[in-house]
Amino acid sequence: MITRDINLAKRALDNNEIIAIPTETVYGLAANAYSEKAVEKIFALKERPFYNPLIVHIKSADFLDNVARDIPDVAQTLANEFWPGPLTLVLKKQSSIPDLVTAGKDTVAIRVPNHPVSLSLLEQLEFPLAAPSANPFGSISPTTASHVYGYFADDLDVILEGGECEKGLESTIIGFENNQPIVYRLGSLSIEDIERKIGKVRSKTHDDTAPSAPGMLSRHYAPATKSYLTDDVEKLISVHPNKKIGLLLFQNEIKNSAVTHQEILSKSGDLTEAAKKLYAAMHQLDKLNLDLIIAEKFPDVGLGKTINDKLERATV
Ligand code: TXA
Ligand code: MG
Repeated sequence: MITRDINLAKRALDNNEIIAIPTETVYGLAANAYSEKAVEKIFALKERPFYNPLIVHIKSADFLDNVARDIPDVAQTLANEFWPGPLTLVLKKQSSIPDLVTAGKDTVAIRVPNHPVSLSLLEQLEFPLAAPSANPFGSISPTTASHVYGYFADDLDVILEGGECEKGLESTIIGFENNQPIVYRLGSLSIEDIERKIGKVRSKTHDDTAPSAPGMLSRHYAPATKSYLTDDVEKLISVHPNKKIGLLLFQNEIKNSAVTHQEILSKSGDLTEAAKKLYAAMHQLDKLNLDLIIAEKFPDVGLGKTINDKLERATV
């Protein structure tokens, strides 16, 4: 059920049930992070492999010591600067965090979500919330309560309504190796914004053999419809005659009668707006029984880098 009742959400979580919560990035599937019994239900509902660890959501940076230890100075700097916000830090874990949450790793991923509903819920709870995105493993992340309902229907007693997600793409994940920050997943905080605060950071965002963050798997967040990413949309249309084609475009519509449907992400060419709309447009295209989706490459700067990364993983 989709509801605005935070008390209902609290009661379910206190009873080791799982619920969906809104965040500024995407909706999450949340459980008491200290309860293996509750966290197990997330893996079962998402059909998520146990090797893929979860993000722990805390109510403020002041709570960090309860879940992490040996925090590098640069991590503290990032937490102070960007929390609440779309940045996840991977740090050495405290023993309070069960192995199930971290997939047996000695590190835990942590963030403070920047959404009034979830912050108010976290304030009222005695525990942090383990929450992956609220979608079946491998499919597109939800940016509205109705996307979540579309995936799980009444398997979830509580889907907390929090409106359309303001950012629309997952958090950016940073880990630390020898106290040096490393980007594990591109997300809705741009690398440029991070580097403005702490200087140059290295990236390790593609790794199919031993992913540090399984968001790194080359194929992820995929629509069910066969999808392509290209610099030359017109050319790709021309090599697929007599097909039902949907387009995912940045700014400008394409005049071509062979096209069934077009999603334009930002008429004004604003990458922040495009990021916010990306997943909803992918959900929309996926519902139209198209033969294929053709997505256009975005400018490779700021959030354009994150959008291209998501599109690369969603396409063949
Ligand atoms: O924006 C977000 O981050 C959303 C909202 C709900 O907060 N959550 C989200 O969770 O995207 P999920 O589970 O879909 O992605 C979490 C990513 C995974 O790729 C996982 O592998 C990585 O975080 N991760 C979690 N713990 C980790 C750890 N200890 N080391 C490295 N990566 C980790
Ligand atoms: Mg996810």
